[in-house]
Amino acid sequence: MSGADSAVYAQTLLTALGPAAERSLDLPPEESFLSDDHTPVEFSLAFVPDADPTLRVLLEPGYGAGGLAENGRVGLRVVREMARRWGFDTKRLDELEDLFFPPEPKGPLALWCALELLPGGVPKAKVYLNPAASGQERSAETVREALRRLGHRQAFAALPEGDRHLFFALDLGDWEEPRVKVYLAHHDLSAAEAAGLSRVDGGPGRKEIKRFFRTAAGRGVDADGFDHRDVPLDRRPGLTCHAFTESRTGLPSGFTLHIPVRDYARDDREALDRAVAVLRRHGMDPAPLVRALSAVTSRRLQDGVGLIAYLGLVHQQGKPPRMNAYISSEAYEVRPPVPVAVPVPFPQAEVVH
Ligand code: TRP
Repeated sequence: MSGADSAVYAQTLLTALGPAAERSLDLPPEESFLSDDHTPVEFSLAFVPDADPTLRVLLEPGYGAGGLAENGRVGLRVVREMARRWGFDTKRLDELEDLFFPPEPKGPLALWCALELLPGGVPKAKVYLNPAASGQERSAETVREALRRLGHRQAFAALPEGDRHLFFALDLGDWEEPRVKVYLAHHDLSAAEAAGLSRVDGGPGRKEIKRFFRTAAGRGVDADGFDHRDVPLDRRPGLTCHAFTESRTGLPSGFTLHIPVRDYARDDREALDRAVAVLRRHGMDPAPLVRALSAVTSRRLQDGVGLIAYLGLVHQQGKPPRMNAYISSEAYEVRPPVPVAVPVPFPQAEVVH
């Protein structure tokens, strides 16, 4: 990124965060579901073959506003200020306001905003809303109604089953094909199940999804010959995201599988190795990811886990696959690495296996 762009974007982030950006890190964090240590900022790199990755940032403008209702109000105000500043309209968001901003909203979030920090100082914006704002039990209906209002009448029926609607996201501003995205959480997801979740016509190959799942989640055959390839994600769930860009077919045009690598790796060295393997396999240069990690922290990778929060494999119809790596800020806390199991003496090892 040019020096001028990075200066403009640093100011943009400070403005979007408002008072939170001035808050001392010596104070305990406010509640935020955005990252594990409650820092309201997460970076990510979107990799494509044969080009530089795009740097993005996800942030919570209403962080520390004192309650979810106020958090949402601040979020809406900040997004509308961005719209005025960069000349885009928020019509699609305005049409959904009553659905996602009820008087007494439920968690786990009110509004997040993501910016793609493109060259030139004018970012592309996305908003993330909470389907459970009116209660977890209403979330499916909220998503169905939101899709309907945006003209995607058949979209809800096209989605796969999941355990929880996590986010409803909108691209705002100058996008070639603005997307409406629905994120689902899937508990105990296995590689084979993940391979059957895409509803994109002619979408990603099952084999490719399984290979990505297993590499990212560390589901292989271990040194002792034990086969972990079909072991499901038993801690944090896997997430899918379906993207809708037209309403003619009723089908999504994009599918992403997100693996929370941080809950399935010992430390960030291991998480980075997996990211590198996935990137190389798709013909992408991992060097920018390595540089990005050292830009956010000076700690050694093996001294914590969680710096790489998720790895995502993105398929958008008509485009080559993309890989996203989500990078935590760790402004408050580093999660300690998983201790390596002490080798069990021989007779007990016999019993265990
Ligand atoms: N922190 C939340 C989680 O881990 C939400 C989240 C932040 C997220 N960044 C993400 C989810 C990137 C998917 C991909 O679930």
